[in-house]
Amino acid sequence: MTRPLIIAVDGPAASGKGTIAARLAATWGLPHLDTGLLYRAVGLGLLDRGGSLDDAAAAEALARALDASQLSDTERLTGRGAGEAASRVAGYPGVRAALLEFQKAFANQPGGAVLDGRDIGTVIAPDAPAKLFVTATPEVRAARRWKQLTARGEIIAYEDMLEDIVRRDQRDAGRGAAPMVQAEDAVLLDTTDMDIETAFDAARRIVEAARAKHGL
Ligand code: C5P
Repeated sequence: MTRPLIIAVDGPAASGKGTIAARLAATWGLPHLDTGLLYRAVGLGLLDRGGSLDDAAAAEALARALDASQLSDTERLTGRGAGEAASRVAGYPGVRAALLEFQKAFANQPGGAVLDGRDIGTVIAPDAPAKLFVTATPEVRAARRWKQLTARGEIIAYEDMLEDIVRRDQRDAGRGAAPMVQAEDAVLLDTTDMDIETAFDAARRIVEAARAKHGL
C-alpha cells in the first residue's frame, strides 16, 4: 500500500505558509487544516468568557471542549488580538495535549492531508513524506500582515506589527512544549524576496520532489 501524501507546512506568522498550504491542498485535492485556528479559538474563547490568558487550567478546559463550530468565524479568528492570545495559550502543555489527537487524526486520514502550523513536521506528523519550513524576515512578514489587516479595516502602526511578530516568534520558538523549530528533514523555503506565485511554485516543486523520492 502506498503511503498517504501528508504535507506538513510549518513556519512563523505571515511567512506565507497558510496560503501555500491552501494552494498545495487544492493542487492535490487534499483536505487542509490551518492548525493556528485551533489555538486562536482557544485564546479568543478564554477572552470572550472574561478569563485570563494566564489561566492554564481554563485554557485546557476550553481546548478539550473545542468543536468545529468555533472555527467558522475566520474573520474574527485571524484578527490581531486572536494571534497574540493564541500564542499565549499555545505554550500550555495541557492545551497542546488536548488538541493533539484531533490534529493527528486529521493528518492520518487515508487519502492524505495538508496541515500548517508550528509543530506539524516535528510533533503532529513526524512521518510526513513532505515537509516544508516556510520563513521570511520579520520586517517583510510584518509588512505583509500590516497590509492584510489594514485592508480589512484594522488600525495598526507598522512598528507595532513588527513588535507583535518578533515577540510572537520569540515566544513560539522559546517555549518548552513543542517549540517552533524546523524539522531535521524539512526543506527550508525563504519567501522574503518572493511574491506568492513564486513562493507557491517553489513549494510545489519541493512537494513534487518529495513525492518522487517516496514513490507517491
Ligand atoms: O499560524 P497562526 O499565526 O494562526 O498561529 C497562531 C499561534 O498559534 C502561533 O503564534 C502559535 O503560538 C500557535 N500555534 C502553535 N502550533 C501550531 C499552530 C499555531 O503553537 N501548530
